[in-house]
Amino acid sequence: MNTPKRYTVTTALPYTNGPIHIGHLAGVYVPADIYVRYLRLTGNDVAFIGGSDEHGVPITIKAKNEGVTPQDIVDKYHAIIKKSFEDFGITYDNYSRTSAPIHHETASDFFKTLYDKGEFIEESTEQLYDAEANQFLADRFVVGTCPKCGNEESYGDQCEACGTSHNATDLINPKSALTGNTPTLKETKHWFLPLDKHEAFLKEWILEGHKKDWKPNVYGQVKSWIDDGLRPRAVTRDLDWGIPVPVEGGEGKVLYVWFDAPIGYISSTKEWADREGKDWKPYWKDKDTKLVHFIGKDNIVFHCIIFPAMLKAEGSYIMPDNVPANEFLNLEGNKLSTSKNWAVWLPEYLEEFPGQQDVLRYVLTANAPETKDNDFTWKDFQARNNNELVAIFGNFINRVVVLTNKYYEGIVPTPNSLEIVDEETLAAVKAYPDVISSSIERYRFREAGQELMNLARLGNKYLADAEPWKVIKVDEERTKTIMYVALQIASALATLSEPFLPFTSEKLKNILNLNEDAANWNEVKTKDVLLSAGHKIGKAELLFSKIEDETIQKQLDKLEASKKANEAANKAVEPQKATITFDDFTKLDLRVGTIIEAEKMPKAKKLLVLKVDTGIDVRTIVSGIAESFKPEDIIGKQVTVLVNLAPRALRGVESEGMILMTENAEGKLVFVNPDEAKIPNGLTVS
Ligand code: 2FM
Ligand code: ZN
Repeated sequence: MNTPKRYTVTTALPYTNGPIHIGHLAGVYVPADIYVRYLRLTGNDVAFIGGSDEHGVPITIKAKNEGVTPQDIVDKYHAIIKKSFEDFGITYDNYSRTSAPIHHETASDFFKTLYDKGEFIEESTEQLYDAEANQFLADRFVVGTCPKCGNEESYGDQCEACGTSHNATDLINPKSALTGNTPTLKETKHWFLPLDKHEAFLKEWILEGHKKDWKPNVYGQVKSWIDDGLRPRAVTRDLDWGIPVPVEGGEGKVLYVWFDAPIGYISSTKEWADREGKDWKPYWKDKDTKLVHFIGKDNIVFHCIIFPAMLKAEGSYIMPDNVPANEFLNLEGNKLSTSKNWAVWLPEYLEEFPGQQDVLRYVLTANAPETKDNDFTWKDFQARNNNELVAIFGNFINRVVVLTNKYYEGIVPTPNSLEIVDEETLAAVKAYPDVISSSIERYRFREAGQELMNLARLGNKYLADAEPWKVIKVDEERTKTIMYVALQIASALATLSEPFLPFTSEKLKNILNLNEDAANWNEVKTKDVLLSAGHKIGKAELLFSKIEDETIQKQLDKLEASKKANEAANKAVEPQKATITFDDFTKLDLRVGTIIEAEKMPKAKKLLVLKVDTGIDVRTIVSGIAESFKPEDIIGKQVTVLVNLAPRALRGVESEGMILMTENAEGKLVFVNPDEAKIPNGLTVS
């Protein structure tokens, strides 16, 4: 498109069923924030729009699991998510929520407009139904085999393995997520958006119009769906949580969450415009507006096919100019998972790494899953902080500021005539805004972030080669020029780092005493002087600090604990055995006993030969606990003993009873009562 008059930049509305984690940040929110900060710095009119997605089955399921109402869940997580975005420096112009009245009204009106225009097919069809739960099974209420890729855990509306979006009735071998039952079919009426009607438009707009500028992963997915043939999609559901269907016959039904959620971008824009006294319409309806949706790859079909088809059917909206969807970020080699607590949660990060928002922003940008899935590791986080932010960026700034204070009491010196190296360095600095712009405008944020670090590298190298700390001893005038040039680089870094490292940029502007006078993006490439001679800078302050091994180990331990808890939770509880009568139970003679001797059974890995004082006698019991205990550690331990079990020979040793133990999550045997309190041997257990 020609130079846009304004930008509308949206980020996927996160479901309010949990906090934000690094996968969300790397995939959507950090790149979007870099983009809008850059647009603002380059003087553009931008509406940066976000909000919480508060409808849909994930919320209902979470509420059910916690025994609270869906409203409780969305209120809790909307507040947590909104605050963590603010604290992390995501600079929304408006962050709304889909439970807001303005959204209900906007989404309802949108549906009615399409209804009135005859854009829906109204049809009674047989849908999956769970009679026990008295619930139609759509979306995440049903799990089955994906007809496209064979993933056995596909949801009713989308398979997360291959990204395909389908109807619940397409699933092979569906099972209710509520009861595990195989659903039956029951007739119900719904409204369908005939995507096939918009196929020709979508083909021309995306397949012909955006082959070159959309990311290959996005373009490829869209092409494959279109090539498979588009079909009508139900945009209403038989649920009670959501936006009521606002037309006759819609009682007891709500809008499909993926119908209402993207309209949330429009309602959030309206909320912002109302507050700011602006008109929202040009941000959505003027063809000179550039609309960009930042999303994760699982949202591609909804933003590139379904929402555009809705907008097209409505008729007065512009289409997105780009949908720069990212792939997924993994954590320490495994898929991020909310339910398995395999994640780095933003609120926890903010608490445990106070003032270090930029470190996470930097690492997530450097490792952004732009073209393929990527892995976040804590070791890499530490290395990028220590070897790049501290050793390159921080070190350069620190040397410049310390030396300026030391040699000139903080006053920028007047340079003498520039040598070739100085001129080349200053010319190289001036080239950076365009280099970084070009990467950002092509949604290559990793590349852009690395270019910023290259500018810091340039500064470091300049100082290392020029060695002002040596030259000062022999040539004070030359030292002034060197420090002057280095200060220009520091100043350029203060401006150009803003989209990537906003907290650092602000701190650096304070140190350089720039604040209002900081050059803007374009001035870095046009102005000869960014920091004039005679300007007084402040004192040195560390921009970044080294992250120690213990800090990283603590995080790794946390993940290890999650893994263990998961294993324990996943360990199948053995089914209950056949019922016994009370008389059967009374036949068991259970006593308290104390282990008084223990030794390994020769050539048997698992067996210990114990002598147990049962109160009745001291007897030999052979027990399979050798892999969990050393003999010397269990002497004196009290155990429950089944004393009237018929004796049996194990490896030639007669065992006269059984001691009772349990197995913990790691498969290690433990005493049921680890309490050290002494109980008289021989007491019965009942
Ligand atoms: O995948 C998700 O988390 C969805 N809640 C994203 C919605 S994006 C938009 F359409 F609102
Ligand atoms: Zn699939």
